[in-house]
Amino acid sequence: QEDVFRKVISHAKEYGFIFPSSEIYDGLSAVYDYGQNGAELKNNIKQYWWKAMVQLNENIVGIDAAILMHPTTWKASGHVDAFNDPLIDNKDSKKRFRADVLIEDYCAKLEDKAQKEIEKAAKRFGDAFEKEQFENTNARVMEYRERQKTILSRMAKSLETENLADVKALIEELEIADPDTGSKNWTDVRQFNLMFGTKLGASADNAMDLYLRPETAQGIFVNFLNVQKTSRHKLPFGIAQIGKAFRNEIVARQFIFRMREFEQMEMQFFVQPGTELKHYEEWKQKRLNWHLALGLGEENYKFHDHEKLAHYANAATDIEFKFPFGFKELEGIHSRTDFDLSAHEQHSGRKLQYFDPERNENYTPYVVETSIGLDRMFLALMSHCLKDEVLEDGSERTVLSLPPALAPVKAAILPLMKKDGLGEYAEKIFNDLKYDFNLIYEEKDSIGKRYRRNDALGTPFCITIDHDSLTDHTVTLRDRDTMQQERVQVADLRRIIDEKTNF
Ligand code: GAP
Repeated sequence: QEDVFRKVISHAKEYGFIFPSSEIYDGLSAVYDYGQNGAELKNNIKQYWWKAMVQLNENIVGIDAAILMHPTTWKASGHVDAFNDPLIDNKDSKKRFRADVLIEDYCAKLEDKAQKEIEKAAKRFGDAFEKEQFENTNARVMEYRERQKTILSRMAKSLETENLADVKALIEELEIADPDTGSKNWTDVRQFNLMFGTKLGASADNAMDLYLRPETAQGIFVNFLNVQKTSRHKLPFGIAQIGKAFRNEIVARQFIFRMREFEQMEMQFFVQPGTELKHYEEWKQKRLNWHLALGLGEENYKFHDHEKLAHYANAATDIEFKFPFGFKELEGIHSRTDFDLSAHEQHSGRKLQYFDPERNENYTPYVVETSIGLDRMFLALMSHCLKDEVLEDGSERTVLSLPPALAPVKAAILPLMKKDGLGEYAEKIFNDLKYDFNLIYEEKDSIGKRYRRNDALGTPFCITIDHDSLTDHTVTLRDRDTMQQERVQVADLRRIIDEKTNF
C-alpha cells in the first residue's frame, strides 16, 4: 500500500498535477502547488460540488468571504483558546511530535499485533479451530484491543480536561520511544495553537494582529444575516463556500492529506431549533450519495460517528474514504447547535437572530454543517483511480480512470501525422470543440505513445484524424477505459463527448 501511495505522489508530479511548493528552494513542508492538470481537476471537483450544493438546491446560496477576518471572530469561535494540538519534543533527537499522534501510533501497533495474532491462529489451526486454542487466541486479541481502547480513552479524557501532565505520564508509562532513534527522553507536553498569525497595518505600534482563517465556516456565520436578508430565504436554508484555509499542522505528512494551506468546501444549513437532528440525518445521506455518484465503489466509504463530541456539537460524523494508508476522514458532518451564532452575538453585541414570520418570533437558528477538504477529495480520486493494467497482449499501461466529468482534459485531438493537411483538419476540430471542452492537441510521438500518455492523464477520449477523415469526415474515437476504437462522424463528436463528460 505504501508503494501505491508513492506511485500516486510521483505520478502527480510527472503528469503536471501537483508539485512541491517553491521546489527550486527545496520546497516548503506540507505546502503544494497544483500544476496545469491538477488545477483543472481541482476546478472540476469544485464545480461538481457547487452544482450539487448551490445550483440544485433552491434554498442554498454560495458566497466568497475574505480569508482575513476581524480577530474577535476567532475569539468567539473558540479557535484562540481551543484550537490547539498537544506538542512534545524528544530531548535527544530534538524532534517534535504531537503527543496524541504518538499515543495513537502506539495503539495502532497494538492493533497490528492483535491482527497478526488472528492471522497466525488462522494459519495454524486452519478452518478446524480447536475450541480451546481458539479461545486462547481470542482472549489474547481481546486483551490487546481492550488495552488499546483504555489507553485512547485515558488520553482523550486528559486532553479534554487539558491535563497535559497526564498525557506525558501515559507516554512514560507506556515507554513510548522516538520511532527513529528509540529515545524515551521526553519534554513536557504543551499546547500549540494551529492558527497562522499575521499583521494588518504598516506601523509596528498600531498594527493589528490577525489570523489566516483556519476554516471557511466563520465567514459564513458572520454573514448569516446579510445573506438571509438579501436572499430573503426562510429557514431552513444554507450558505455554501469554497475557499482556502490555513493550519500550522505539526504532523504534516501523507502528501496532500494534511496540508498547511488547503481548501475547504463547506455548507452551513440554518434550521429551526429542534429540527437539527432530522436535517443532520438528511445531510449525512445526501453527502454520501454525492460521493457514491462518482462511482468509486460503495465499499470505499464508511461513516464514523463520533462518540466524543466537541463542546458545540450535539451530533457529528466523518465520511471516511479508503485511502492507500487506510480509512481516513474525507468529510465531516456536524450538528453545531446555535454555538457559533450565539458566540458571535455575544462578542459583537449585534443580534444575529432570525425573524420567523410563521411563528412571529425571533430566535437563533441551529446549524448543520457539511465540510469537505478539496485537496483530500483530490487525493481520494487520484489514489483510487491510478491503476497499472496488464493488457491481453501482455503489455502494460498506466491509466488514471477518473470519472469523465472530473477529468482535467476531456479529449485529445491527435492527427496521425502533421502533413497532407491532417494537421489543419485536426486544428479545425480542436477549434470547433474548444468552447465546450478542455482539450489538448498533440502531434508529436507515435499514436500509441500519445494514447498511453493520455491514459495516464485520465483523458476519457482520444480522437485520431487520418487520411480518410479528409474525405469522409469521420475520425477514430478511442475510449480510455475499454480502449475500444470506433469510427464516428466529426459532426457527432460534441454530442458523444458531452454525453460522457457532463454532470
Ligand atoms: N468547519 C469545520 C471544520 O473545519 P474539520 O474537520 O477541522 O472541520 C473539515 O475540517 C475538513 O477539512 C476535513 O474533513 C478535511 O477533509 C479537511 N481538512 C482539515 N484539515 C486539513 C488539512 N490540514 N489538510 C487538508 N485538508 C484538511
